This record gives sequence, structure tokens and C-alpha cells, in this order.
Amino acid sequence: MGIAIFSSCEINNEEKQLDEMSLMLNVDSGRYADEYTYAQKEKAVITHLDLDIKVDFSNKTISGLASFTINNKTRTDKIIFDTKSLNIENVTLGTDEKTKFSYKGEKEFMGEKLEIEIKPETEKVNIYYSTSPKAIALQWLSPQQTVEKEHPFLYTQSEPTLARSWIPIQDSPGIRFTYNAKVTVPKDLMAVMSATNPKTKNDQGVYHFEMKQPVPAYLMALAVGDFVFKPIGERTGVYAAKSMVEAAVYEFGELEQMMAVVEKLYGAYRWDRYDLIVLPPSFPFGGMENPKITFATPTIIAGDRSLVSLVAHELSHSWSGNLVTSATWNDFWINEGFTVYLERRIMEEIYGKSYTDMLRLIGFQDLEQTLLLMGKENPASCLKLQLNGVDPDHALTDIAYEKGALFLQVIEEEVGRVAFDKFLKTYFDKFAFQSMSSEQFVEYLKETLIKGDKELEKNIDIDAWVFQSGLPQNCPPVRSERFELVDVEIENWIRGADAATLNTKGWTTHEWLHFLRHLPREMSSDHIKELDATFDLSNSTNSEIIAAWFIHVINNNYTQSYDKLEQFLISVGRRKFLSPLYKEMARTKANKLTALKIYKKARPNYHTISAGTIDAILGWNEAGYLSHD
Ligand code: BES
Ligand code: ZN
Repeated sequence: MGIAIFSSCEINNEEKQLDEMSLMLNVDSGRYADEYTYAQKEKAVITHLDLDIKVDFSNKTISGLASFTINNKTRTDKIIFDTKSLNIENVTLGTDEKTKFSYKGEKEFMGEKLEIEIKPETEKVNIYYSTSPKAIALQWLSPQQTVEKEHPFLYTQSEPTLARSWIPIQDSPGIRFTYNAKVTVPKDLMAVMSATNPKTKNDQGVYHFEMKQPVPAYLMALAVGDFVFKPIGERTGVYAAKSMVEAAVYEFGELEQMMAVVEKLYGAYRWDRYDLIVLPPSFPFGGMENPKITFATPTIIAGDRSLVSLVAHELSHSWSGNLVTSATWNDFWINEGFTVYLERRIMEEIYGKSYTDMLRLIGFQDLEQTLLLMGKENPASCLKLQLNGVDPDHALTDIAYEKGALFLQVIEEEVGRVAFDKFLKTYFDKFAFQSMSSEQFVEYLKETLIKGDKELEKNIDIDAWVFQSGLPQNCPPVRSERFELVDVEIENWIRGADAATLNTKGWTTHEWLHFLRHLPREMSSDHIKELDATFDLSNSTNSEIIAAWFIHVINNNYTQSYDKLEQFLISVGRRKFLSPLYKEMARTKANKLTALKIYKKARPNYHTISAGTIDAILGWNEAGYLSHD
């Protein structure tokens, strides 16, 4: 993820008092207001959406009607929606009464503000619209870009602020609504949404969806393609291309067990079913926690269940994030920090502590790297962010994930696991289907767990964790015994032992990752060849391992594996893998040239989200790779 520099995250006392007052009054002060929506939820807000859309692959557009039930709280004369490169054809009120509307861009990347004239008694607003072929939330894939290469595919990615590019909506994590949808697709394709889903294809190409639980716009999701459904357990299953579905069912075989773990700790699963859909490899993320149906990259299907912590993560969002939701993008850690904490609790329960310690240490080392890059004084390393209008896509870093999870670990260690689990269970219950700001969480924590215990308050040091930059002094040590054994082998190899003599027996993906991430950057050509010959790294079918290996391939100009690198970069669109590899290639003139050649072929396969990041790394412009000398 990108890193941005912001002005300040310190909050002065006067502001704090104001915040406390507004908390008591339960109103939005400036601090909690979402700066990434044009909507004014305290005046007129949506409560339900009836969507009737048609998906047209030949024109790469979605068009139809978004009909909203609204609550005109202040009996005002206008309601405001977010849109981005949408074509608004007509707007009516009630059953079909004409009204005036206007839409125009105001702030960069936020899209166009849609203002609709309403009446004090208006309850229904109907927006007829179509999307642009360039809609940032949509990726239209040709058959060639799918696994089976027979049918096209479409999927949406709405988080953080992209939903507005495929539905006119009040696009804020603090605005929730229920929805029903009718989606018409080409007859040979099937559709799923973040809602009740079909299990089989029908002949008409018309699918009906219902979402009874209120969700914010960033959790709106749609995927259309040729996929099949297979159950995993009673209330779980997977959608995937026919040729992949068996492998997916095996890979996610522990899903029911994972659900049982979270339910026992944090209360009932409130979304009825939990399914996954395995998307084509261009999906820019590892996973996206769309309610009832997580969208996942195929790169986690390793054949040995070794990358399923991602499933534990997305599943955990059904509590942290989807149930209790960050009030604004400045409170992103309320989603992600809690989720990483929950994810590790699931992993610990199923795989044990020594396994989970490996995950913790990998995460911690990523965090250290991020802090090193951004500088530990950088306000972007506060949990509570002050994004100040920066595009959230560039500013949501792994601080929220790892520093957030560590903060919760500190509290857990201070009060004990039993008490902390009880606290979290009540928290999810009490604030279910509501939004949560950092300040509100702190308040709740003080009231219900710290309860005036000065010693405890001092030991936790909330202020340092939430409102100050860097890592607080009481940050717990993160250690992994299993990685210490790997360190010994790395040391042996550096001292001249043959790769074949290293004790790699029983290593999981994570031990291999640690090994690869801590090898010396510079290696002789004999050495890199020896590693490859001994461990067959260039042929690894594990995406994490091969991506870590390619860093050495690039850095040591091990050109015999460049074809495989190229293949990987062309087929995979997951930004987490692409960014470090392109960055590594951009370091030397020769490699950068290779990178640009590969990118020219690969770019059409990438989602705009990934392409945007790589464009910046390579200094790419639309005209081609002209920007190098
Ligand atoms: N909600 C995030 C994905 C996301 C974050 C999308 C911010 C857009 C903006 C999801 O839960 C996530 O964190 N995915 C991670 C994997 C996870 C195991 C850390 C990813 O995609 O890499
Ligand atoms: Zn997440």
C-alpha cells in the first residue's frame, strides 16, 4: 500500500473537549464527519436501495435504475449523492414525479456531487443512470483474461470510495442501507452480490438479490461470470471457475472450523451464509470482505492450505468492519487492526501459537519496514489518521493493520485474555450495524474496561497508540521460535554451507518466506543458481514464495528466471506482489527497461487500482514507455 505524508495527528485539548461533548450529544463534529462524501447524512439520508440494472459486456457499461428510500430528516429541499463518471439520465421522486438535479465535480478523485431537489415529504428518489467504461470500481475482463478463457468476467471493488463509480450512492462508511437488486446479465453467465446469492445459473440471465442487513456503500459488490458453486459446509461454500472449484473447496476446508472459533469468542455470525468467490488473477487485492461473500484472489490457492490466514482475515471482518464499521477512513484501523487481531486468534486456535507467531513476526517486520520508509515521526503512523483530503487509496497503510492489532494485543495482555474476549464480544454486540470512531472506541474502552484504574490506564497508554506516531514504548516483543531455527540455517548458508545441507525439513510456507526475506541481497551467480537448483524456487507454485524469490532474481540479475518473472507479472494483478517487484526492477537501468517491456504487455490485465500504483513506480504515461532515457 502507498504511503502519504500528512500535516499533524496530534489533537489539542480544546479539540478533545469538543469531541467529548459531541460524543455525549451523539452528533457529528467536524472530526467525525466523513470528508470523502458529498452527502449530508444529518439532513437527508438513504435507508434502502432497490437496484435494477443490466450488465452490458459489449459496451462495458452497467445501466438501469437505483431507487432509494430516503429519510428526509430535516425536511430539507435537496438530497446529495456521490457519483463518479456516471451518466445520470433522469431523476424522479415518488412513483414518477419529475424533479430537477445537477451534478458537477468539486474535488479531485471524489467524483461529481449529485444534487437532487426533493420535497419535505419525499420518501423515494429514483435515479436512472449508466456507468462509464472507465468506471474505476469495475474491471471488465475478456475471456482471454479468465482461467477458462471462454467467457468474459466483471467484478466490482468498492472499498474505499469507488462504489460511486458504479452506483449513484451516499458513499460513506457511516451511512448504512439495506438493498434489493435485480441484475440482468448475458444468458450464459451468472451473477453474485454481497447479498443472498443464487447457487445455480438460470436460463434467463436475470438474478434477484436481497440484503436485509444494513451495509455501507463500500460493501456493495457484484461479480458476473461463468462460475459454479460448491458447498463447503452447512452455511459455507465457494464460487469459482469449474476447473478450480475442487481445489478451492479443499483449500478452504477449514472454514466451518474458523467460523466456530470466532462465534465462540465474539458471538453469532449475523450474515446467514458465508461464501467465497475466487476471482480471476487480476483482482488487485488478496481479499475483500464483501458481506456474505468474500472476494478472493486465486493466488491463495496454494494446494496445501498454507495461505488461508487470508480467509480467517476476511471472515473476521464479518464482526470487525462489516458489523462495527470505521466511522470514517481516518478510523480505518477500527476495521483492519481489529480484523488482524481476530485473524490471529483464529489461526492460533486452529494452528497453534508457534505457527501464529510466524504470522505475527512477518506482519511486524512489514510494519517496521513501513515505519522506516515513512519515518516514525510521520503522523501517517498514528492509528487515528488525518487524511485531510488525500486520496484514501494512497493513504491506507499497514499501520492500521499491524499497529492496530498490536494495540489490541497490549490491552489483552494487560487485562488478560478472558476479560478482553468478554469485552470484545460485548463491543460487537452493542455496536452491531453501527459505525465507530477511534475516539468513541477509546471512550468505550475507558468506561467499560479500564474503569478509572490509573495503573492500567498508564500501562496501556492509549494516547501513544491511537494519537501518536511511531511505535509506543510498551510495544510487546514479537518473536518466533520457528523463525529462529530458520535464522540458524541462513547463518549456515552465509558461512558457506551447501544449500543441500540446510535443515529445511518440515518448513511451511512461512519458514520459506522468512528464509527468502532474510537472505543477503547480493549473491554470487553461483550462489543464486545453487539455491534455485536445490530448492526449485523458480518453479514454486506458491505465490508468496515465488514473489519473495523474484526479488532476489531481479536484484541479482538472474536472467534465466526472467521468463517466469514475466509470466507471473502478466498473469497476476495483486498489487501486494506487483509493487515490490516493479520497484525492485526500477532500481537499475537495464531492469527498468525490462520492466517497462513487461508492463506494456501486463498493464491491460491489471485493474485500474494496481495500474495506478505501477504507473507511478515506473513513471509510465499512457503514450507508452517514453519516460525513461
Ligand atoms: N478490506 C481490505 C482490502 C482493502 C483495504 C481494499 C483498503 C481497499 C482499501 C481486506 O480485508 C484486506 O485487508 N485484504 C488484504 C489481505 C489481508 C489478509 C491483510 C489484502 O488484500 O492484501
Ligand atoms: Zn482487512
